[in-house]
Amino acid sequence: MKAKILLVAGIFLLVLVVAAKLPAKSTVFTLVYDMFNQISLKPQEKGSMNAFVVGAVSIDGSEIEDPNDRFSVILKDIISETATLNPIKPDAASLADGKLKFDTFCAVCHGTSREINAEGFAKTKVNELGMIAPAVITLTPFFSDGYIYHKAKYGGAVMPAMGYAVAARERWNIVNYIRELEKQE
Ligand code: HEC
Repeated sequence: MKAKILLVAGIFLLVLVVAAKLPAKSTVFTLVYDMFNQISLKPQEKGSMNAFVVGAVSIDGSEIEDPNDRFSVILKDIISETATLNPIKPDAASLADGKLKFDTFCAVCHGTSREINAEGFAKTKVNELGMIAPAVITLTPFFSDGYIYHKAKYGGAVMPAMGYAVAARERWNIVNYIRELEKQE
């Protein structure tokens, strides 16, 4: 009995050793070590599922608006009379979250002060390495809350869209915090 168990275990081990040595895409035995590239249903892949209702699922970090419409949103926000209104009061909780999110997602490029480097961009490490982000609080006094809010969401020609990282409420908190940063010398 014991010998039989040992034999079966031995064969099993042998098969495992042989299988492990086969190339990964072998049709004989495939060791799936890459869980993303196995055969599976990928919801965002064309034709894999029924189409989503337009605007229901974000694929680029923007929320429910049609991403093609971003320019009209931005245009509307440039004019202070039609700009999207900030619904979040700049209380302590909002400012604390705004600081956390700004330090995490914005300061890396924009810095937290008016300090600029020789090229006139914010004095940050990434700008030294070739990024061209402005010391943002030198510009924001000229922008409406809604403009900054949507800029954070959609990004720009160079700035990445950050909507995937900072949700609506967090972006308003960032706006509130930027207004605080503007008060420094
Ligand atoms: C990877 C670097 C990078 C990060 C991270 C980044 N920005 Fe920017 N941002 C830029 C660059 C570059 C520009 C200027 C060119 C452009 O608009 O694309 C810019 C421009 C801006 C402007 C000025 C817009 C204008 O019309 O002049 C604002 C406001 C702004 N960013 C806010 C933010 C906020 C808020 C965050 C964090 C959520 C953020 N940025 C994160 C690179 C960045």
